[in-house]
Amino acid sequence: MASYRVAKIMEDLYVLRLDDVQTKFFEGIWEIPEGITYNSYLLTLPGKTILFDGWKKDYSDDFIEAIKSIVDIDDIDIVVLHHMEPDHTGSVPVLLSKMRRQPTIYVHPMARSMLASFYGLKSSKIMPVKDKDVLDLGDEKITFIHTPWLHWPETMISYLEKHRTLITCDVFGSYSVPKGIFDDELGEKDIQEYLYYARKYMVTVIGYYRNHIVPALNKIGTLGIKPSLIAPGHGLIWRKNLDRIIEAYKDFAEGRYDSSKITMIYTSMYGFVEKAMGKIKDYLEDNGYKVIVHKYTDKDRPSISEILVDADTSKALVIGISNYEASLHPHMDHVLNILAKKIKSLKPVLLVTVYGWGDAAKTLAKKKLENTTLNPVEYISLKAGTDPEIEIIKDFLEKIKE
Ligand code: FEO
Repeated sequence: MASYRVAKIMEDLYVLRLDDVQTKFFEGIWEIPEGITYNSYLLTLPGKTILFDGWKKDYSDDFIEAIKSIVDIDDIDIVVLHHMEPDHTGSVPVLLSKMRRQPTIYVHPMARSMLASFYGLKSSKIMPVKDKDVLDLGDEKITFIHTPWLHWPETMISYLEKHRTLITCDVFGSYSVPKGIFDDELGEKDIQEYLYYARKYMVTVIGYYRNHIVPALNKIGTLGIKPSLIAPGHGLIWRKNLDRIIEAYKDFAEGRYDSSKITMIYTSMYGFVEKAMGKIKDYLEDNGYKVIVHKYTDKDRPSISEILVDADTSKALVIGISNYEASLHPHMDHVLNILAKKIKSLKPVLLVTVYGWGDAAKTLAKKKLENTTLNPVEYISLKAGTDPEIEIIKDFLEKIKE
């Protein structure tokens, strides 16, 4: 049984929040033991009811039940879909199928063909909106702002002028199921933990598109908008310290990191890589660095989501790869692919490859990292069982000095 919350967040404005603790791998890949929420919003103006976004399809019945706790579903005149990813739209076709009259659906122009192909929706009441189009409802004016690539090309956000509320879908979202609805219902410790999950959400979901964050924030800035509420599609609604989530997104966009932190990631099949990495770790720690280790061994399977957060927030990386059948160990091949895709700020790397009879992995890893943000500034190529050269580690530390 899914759990959801319905709360009045302002006069005429409600949040409908589904707390999803069943999804183990968001987008089929990202481990989220902390869960995720899908936030939909309902604006009940006199004579006009507007629904903003939906939930994942699995929760369609709960979604309809949640709406019915506020209004009759046939009272909905308008549906705004900010983004077509099915975590926000999957339940909407089910809702529409239960309605006696069809609402007008406002979407980005690119979303029209997606509605048709994803859900077979081809209604003449689907209205594409241009960037900065204003929907004047008398009691409220809604401005639609295109925010391409946050997260898909068809993504937009809405500004409710009278309510001074930005409804932002993926933008300013986060993983986890917060105890409160609003930021000011959480203590500082919980906010810190939440911001960790926000960074994890950013790097995993929009890491590849992070260069689009600052232009989007700048665009919102030029519109002269002064929101008193940021209401995203995932996680907390911000009403007290809006700057906290805005700054967190800026930090992420600018690739800010902890200058004392190094992340070490490796595969070790029989302990040779692990032994070498242990010596490197000791040396780095003796030189004042905090070293976070993620390892694939015959006993350990790290979380790729956590690898990404640590790599993104580190000054540098140490990557250790076992040769495997004249190739990269498949786990590290996967890790390098994902790091190269999601990490957009330059990271110096100490690349360590370990072999029994020939080091194919060194050449293959070098090639794989060409033209990526992962910059191998030093290499150690080790025959299994031998120790890494301290001089090379020393040179690596010299190169990453600020
Ligand atoms: Fe939360 Fe890109 O969907």
